Amino acid sequence: MKDLHGKQAYITGGSSGIGLETARQLAAKGCHITLFARDSQKLEKARQLILNFRKAQAQKVEIFPMDVTNPQGVEDAIKAAVEAAGPPDIVIANAGQGHGDYFENTTYAIFDRVLQTNVYGVRNVVASSLPYLQEKQGHVVIVASLGGMAAMPGYTAYGTSKFAAVGFAKCLRPELKTKGIGLTLVCPPEVPTPMVDEEIQTLPKEFRAVKLMAGIQSVEQVSRTIVRGIEKNRFVVIPGFLAKASYALVKFLPGLLSNWVTDLMVRQHSKS
Ligand SMILES: NC(=O)c1ccc[n+]([C@@H]2O[C@H](COP(=O)([O-])OP(=O)(O)OC[C@H]3O[C@@H](n4cnc5c(N)ncnc54)[C@H](OP(=O)(O)O)[C@@H]3O)[C@@H](O)[C@H]2O)c1
Repeated sequence: MKDLHGKQAYITGGSSGIGLETARQLAAKGCHITLFARDSQKLEKARQLILNFRKAQAQKVEIFPMDVTNPQGVEDAIKAAVEAAGPPDIVIANAGQGHGDYFENTTYAIFDRVLQTNVYGVRNVVASSLPYLQEKQGHVVIVASLGGMAAMPGYTAYGTSKFAAVGFAKCLRPELKTKGIGLTLVCPPEVPTPMVDEEIQTLPKEFRAVKLMAGIQSVEQVSRTIVRGIEKNRFVVIPGFLAKASYALVKFLPGLLSNWVTDLMVRQHSKS
């Protein structure tokens, strides 16, 4: 999608972090913006912020409370958004639930919430927007994680969910292509957001050390790669040099070397 001007972008998890910054950058490119998340107050704050970054007053910024884990709720919210703001050209399935801890502390309820949000949530949003995207020959963005490409210790729930989101995107891409819909799969390393602030309360330090080998990217950097991914119709987008290098390690030297590096880091940082 070369020219984003005047396009309608729906963004789940648009009230915070990567979703909010991507909305800001798309508004600055002339897009109409529709944000979805659960907390209405946070959504309204986000709306006020985005209004200041529009290129023109005519650009609409709408908000809709929605829990991505509720398929009927998603269907209803997308329908309401289409009526109020118009059908989407771009749908960014970004809403996510983080979690990092030893597996023994990862209860069924946590595991379920993470998978419901990061897997079924993505499924629900893509399923409900598909007819509109087909009509507009639009573009889907799935925000997964580098943790869905490279297995990281401490992420039995989160990593499982992101590997599933990556699998979903890879299975879906050719099917969407036949309908004229583009798909970008985004796999960032750590990005300082409220999700990470919460996650580091429980993520063991030896596991965080493994994760940080892939580096840290700012929300601005990640959102820029998302916007470029849409403009250039890229499939897999991995923001940052160290993240790309980590991905290359597991892709071209799977098993032995990447497991050896992970085990070494865990051993070293468990002692310190
Ligand atoms: N930060 C990182 O290090 C990092 C790295 C790789 C990938 N990612 C991925 O990037 C995406 C955005 O994360 P972030 O770091 O920007 O997190 P964030 O700042 O905590 O934002 C999460 C957003 O998702 C919304 N959300 C959470 N659960 C939801 C639900 N059930 N239904 C609807 N909205 C929901 C939140 O709003 P409400 O709570 O109001 O619903 C919020 O707007 C996630 O998919 C995450 O897995 C993040």
